Amino acid sequence: MSDQAEKLRQMTLQAKIPKSPIIKQMRRSRVITVTSGKGGVGKTNFTVNLALALAALDQRVLIIDADLGMANVEVILGCSAQYNILNLLEDGLKITDVVAEGPRGIKFMAGGSGIYHLANLSEAHLKHIVMQISLFDNWADFILIDTGAGLSRNVLNFVMAADEVIIITTPEPTAITDAYAMMKAYKGQNGTAPLRLVVNRILDRDEGQMVVNKLMRVSQRFLDLSIDSLGYVYEDRKMVKAVKNQVPVILSSPEAISSRSIESIGQRLLYGENVQPSHGIKGFFHKFLEYIT
Ligand SMILES: Nc1ncnc2c1ncn2[C@@H]1O[C@H](COP(=O)(O)OP(=O)(O)OP(=O)(O)O)[C@@H](O)[C@H]1O
Ligand SMILES: [Mg+2]
Repeated sequence: MSDQAEKLRQMTLQAKIPKSPIIKQMRRSRVITVTSGKGGVGKTNFTVNLALALAALDQRVLIIDADLGMANVEVILGCSAQYNILNLLEDGLKITDVVAEGPRGIKFMAGGSGIYHLANLSEAHLKHIVMQISLFDNWADFILIDTGAGLSRNVLNFVMAADEVIIITTPEPTAITDAYAMMKAYKGQNGTAPLRLVVNRILDRDEGQMVVNKLMRVSQRFLDLSIDSLGYVYEDRKMVKAVKNQVPVILSSPEAISSRSIESIGQRLLYGENVQPSHGIKGFFHKFLEYIT
């Protein structure tokens, strides 16, 4: 392990939190990575609508778009971020400039490929970035990280560093097999954060329950890994329409079945059991740097 890597880790631990107007009270955000095995199963739509559902429950939410190279969160939200994480190094730019604001007061940050340049920065620059981002531990109740699909190192780093992980699948056999592969990779890396399943695009509850039972059974039996279910999201044409119109379904059609499904999941996340002690965004970066260096 290099000296540089060790220094980076120490800095994330030591970064002091400067006083800022965005400070609400001293506490830590729940950092949740949303991922999947197969691509195109609905991660980004789910993340954006979940953020809005949580905001309606008075939660402060920051979305980090960690799908390298893509800016899908912006496309689905219908608003764009002017800067990404690396712009924090530009003269006078603060975290509040880099983070854009979306509907219902949610905030989002285009982390993108910028996040991977962190390991190459000088100590002073890295310290500045970590200090700035740490401000969000005092603002955000939830930090949702939307990843790309698949078992690449890139995606796994975000999965391994989070407090909680949501795995999205659809009822299609290929999506289920790939979700299992993600669980296996997670277990292989000695992951300990709770894995929570969301089955998207179900036609009826039985179908959702069947997918959950199947994945719970195989993960318990072959991986000795217990997962829990956060619920289902129905197949919904209104969701497809919302994507085309670039207005999240929960805003354009609050009564739609997909909107109501995601609202229930938001409530379960907030009030349900199995809430783990969170390490906040500082804790996240501490672990993340361990994986990327
Ligand atoms: N509940 C749903 N009902 C109907 N269509 C849906 C639903 N969820 C997602 N979709 C469709 O699936 C498409 C892909 O969704 P999304 O972009 O969120 O997937 P993703 O997992 O983020 O993809 P990627 O792996 O490329 O990042 C959407 O454009 C939408 O058309
Ligand atoms: Mg996506």
